Amino acid sequence: MSRGTVIDIFYLVAVVGFILALKALSSPRRARMGNLLGAAGMVLAVGATFARAGLGHVGLMVGAMAIGVAVGVPAARLVRMTAMPQMVAAFNGVGGGAAAVVSLTAFVSTDAKLLPIYKVLEVIFGVVIGSFSLSGSALSFAKLQELVTGRPIVYRGQQRVNAVVAAGILALLIAVLTTDSTVLLWILLVLSLALGLLFVLPIGGADVPVLISLLNAFTGLAVAASGFSLNSNLLVVAGTLVGASGTLLTVLMSNAMGRSLPNILFSAFGAVITAGTSEAATTRSVRAATVEDVAVLLAYARKVAIIPGYGLAVAQAQHAVRELANTLTKRGVEVFYAIHPIAGRMPGHMNVLLAEADVPYEDLREMEEANREMSTVDVALVVGANDTVNPAAKEVPGSPIYGMPIINADEAANIVFLKRSMRPGFAGIDNDLMYNPKTVMLFGDAKDSLQKLASGVVRV
Ligand code: TAP
Repeated sequence: MSRGTVIDIFYLVAVVGFILALKALSSPRRARMGNLLGAAGMVLAVGATFARAGLGHVGLMVGAMAIGVAVGVPAARLVRMTAMPQMVAAFNGVGGGAAAVVSLTAFVSTDAKLLPIYKVLEVIFGVVIGSFSLSGSALSFAKLQELVTGRPIVYRGQQRVNAVVAAGILALLIAVLTTDSTVLLWILLVLSLALGLLFVLPIGGADVPVLISLLNAFTGLAVAASGFSLNSNLLVVAGTLVGASGTLLTVLMSNAMGRSLPNILFSAFGAVITAGTSEAATTRSVRAATVEDVAVLLAYARKVAIIPGYGLAVAQAQHAVRELANTLTKRGVEVFYAIHPIAGRMPGHMNVLLAEADVPYEDLREMEEANREMSTVDVALVVGANDTVNPAAKEVPGSPIYGMPIINADEAANIVFLKRSMRPGFAGIDNDLMYNPKTVMLFGDAKDSLQKLASGVVRV
């Protein structure tokens, strides 16, 4: 068997590893194994690549990898769960940039005139999509990190400017195909970088995770294109896997938000917060409770549903919530966690946080499953969540979240909100559930309230 065939077999095993990794990552129970499988596949792929005959620049490659490891490993270890979306944005942008550079190099390192037209097309595709993804991800990172405002940045004629730049890219694409000009390819790269920035400007910070998932899919396609340029089956398959899974994730996220992808990308959601916030609502009063009131309510309940949201992540209250749940369980109260698919700011946010605090998987219920039980629940404890329990999604056709599936906290016998104020959630709209006669508000930081509640329950 030739060396090339052996390397191809290793590549095949690596690709199978990537596919199994994606499958395992779709369940919280097997996610860790999925990560390990993906990493093992990557080690195999990189190792096999180093075994290729006639490989040059080995020192440079090892040096580049060492820098990548030195930056990537501490970044991944130190990142807070609430900052995970921006880390994904940063890594994704670097991937897109690398794909663009690979495609560009494939073009400038040969006599472009000798390249068949489909090869030039692959290069152009890699350059355009890769650079778009690089600059788009960089701006997404800046928005999430609050280096620039998280609010949509809009100006008059914005869509027209974007359309003109996109048309310029299309014209240059045809020009490069017909002239094989390196200079035009560079201009194409710069325009694609500009379009990436312009495209992300009007997207609000909290919609950016959906955008990152989309950019991730783009990066996958750019990598697949550079795989064609380099005649690398491995890159083609791995890039396509990223493209397909990123696309599916984008669709799942928009469906779970009850909004279409064009609405997320082009509506500048959050620029003006009006819909759904009624005048009457702002003048209505809510029932504020004390820690003691809520502790008694919880201690004498038979069944408690904990509904975590973004505020739980902000407060880093995952351990405190587990402590409270343990205290209640010890008293014989049945406790489960109702997980909305987009609670928090990225897919699986709540599952990961709760897993970090060793909450048993058996206690987590996905939305549909949780909703089947909600009418039998004595207390729905809403911890730093808002939009994901807002009945406006079912009842108010004009509301921006109308159509989004929610956790039916309103069906529980009692509802308790743990949040700091009456401020709205991400969608910027009032939540009628807070004014429901069955509802009490325990104001304060979620972690602090949960800790006080745990000791309060012990005292009851
Ligand atoms: P939100 O509706 O954003 O509500 C979070 C609530 O947490 C806020 O009302 C806030 O109220 C409270 N909070 C913040 N810090 C807190 C703290 N330290 N202690 C206690 N409470 C705190 O969150 P959600 O219910 O999880 O809904 C998620 C939203 O994000 C949805 O609108 C969804 O469409 C959007 N989104 C999600 C995703 C994914 S994939 N998860 C992606 C993009 C967008 P106070 O300020 O009064 O405390």
